[in-house]
Amino acid sequence: MSTIDYQEKIPNNVNLGEDRTLKRALENWQPNYLNWWQDMGPDGSHGFDVYLRTAVSVDPQGWAQFGHVKMPDYRWGIFLNPAEQERKIHFGDHKGEAAWQEVPGEYRANLRRIIVTQGDTEPASVEQQRHLGLTAPSQYDLRNLFQVNVEEGRHLWAMVYLLHKYFGRDGREEGEALLERRSGQQDNPRILQAFNEPTPDWLSFYMFTYFTDRDGKFQLCALAESSFDPLARTTKFMLTEEAHHMFVGESGVSRVIQRTCQVMNDLKTDDPAKIRAAGVIDLQTIQRYINFHFSVTIDLFGADESSNAATFYTTGLKGRYEEGKRTDDHVLKNDSYKVLEVRNGQLVEKEVPMLNALNEVLRDDYIKDSIGGVERWNKVIEKAGIPFRLSVPHKAFHRNIGSLSGARVSPQGQVVSQAEWDANVDKWLPSVGDRQFVASLMGRVTDAGKFANWIAPPVMGINRQPVDFEYVRFN
Ligand SMILES: [Fe+2]
Ligand SMILES: [Fe+2]
Repeated sequence: MSTIDYQEKIPNNVNLGEDRTLKRALENWQPNYLNWWQDMGPDGSHGFDVYLRTAVSVDPQGWAQFGHVKMPDYRWGIFLNPAEQERKIHFGDHKGEAAWQEVPGEYRANLRRIIVTQGDTEPASVEQQRHLGLTAPSQYDLRNLFQVNVEEGRHLWAMVYLLHKYFGRDGREEGEALLERRSGQQDNPRILQAFNEPTPDWLSFYMFTYFTDRDGKFQLCALAESSFDPLARTTKFMLTEEAHHMFVGESGVSRVIQRTCQVMNDLKTDDPAKIRAAGVIDLQTIQRYINFHFSVTIDLFGADESSNAATFYTTGLKGRYEEGKRTDDHVLKNDSYKVLEVRNGQLVEKEVPMLNALNEVLRDDYIKDSIGGVERWNKVIEKAGIPFRLSVPHKAFHRNIGSLSGARVSPQGQVVSQAEWDANVDKWLPSVGDRQFVASLMGRVTDAGKFANWIAPPVMGINRQPVDFEYVRFN
């Protein structure tokens, strides 16, 4: 069951060969997917041989194999974690019942919506990142970008498999629509706003993979608890791939910081103008990028009070992060939770029924997790002996969803007037000038083992290869 059949046109561990209708439907979708990849996948890269990992098993020990492949020949496939024998629903109104192997009719519309919303983010990020290959700071980084891209493509496959297998004709239509929406497009944009923002430079890319792929982790963790067993199993395997994406982000930002600190110490300066003149990114700009990506990403968790969130939980469609490790009753009907709102010019807490606050619960879990990496970045600055600390902004800062939407709050959590906001916004969020400066540093470095001036090399290579390994053969 857990071995992957690579003889098939579509590699899989779901016995696709035994379901001819499904197999035919997916084989019809496959060329459309490949067309999408040609049009919207990494720009100008289709002939490169890239040192990529491909999933060969769902066994946590040794699930991946590495080798040079041309990306359009990457073996995108369908991989589910093995079924847990007699898995039981462990939260909500159906707690204790057997997990569902088919979609219950009454939950069909909601489940479809959850799967489509998740599925839509996967190709969106590939579209957002499609021009970055042209300005990669090294072969190592280029390879990491492409690895993330092919795996997001595979995550789309994972969701399309569920749509085709369990949602009949509507599912197939949704599968097509997933290839038709485009990140940032006016008339047919991607579903969630953060996935319509451009990822114009490599600092944005590292921030995106650190902050926004981590949103993916939390959403997938919540779906891995689902009573709909095929969804739980497929998201569990996606999480195996996701860890590397966040590593790319965390280590990428860390290397940018390391290089900046080195230049600051060499020049004995903390003047951003001098630091920029030396061709590296000042820490203040890095802080503004954090403020932007963090705030845009926490919006992805949705409104702080949401009856949909309550319904998804109560009906067993979507659990909490680490549902199984929590010691409460997993029904939550008698519990409450605190959310924030602005009242009389102050941020105040408001107690609401826990079930309605589950988006906020997931957002708070996310915030705790994302702070960890920022602390590790601070260690790099500390080690360089520089008195500067990075932090994530207050969760009310720069929000566009829920009761805090549009509230003017500083990164420190002070409610401010529109005039104060306008006077400070360029200190809090990347300005046009910041973005132009960062863009001006981006230039393509193609020699193995060479790195752009604004970023330090990594400590080690991929899959125990040396840092100066030929990760990409440009041909
Ligand atoms: Fe993904
Ligand atoms: Fe990801």
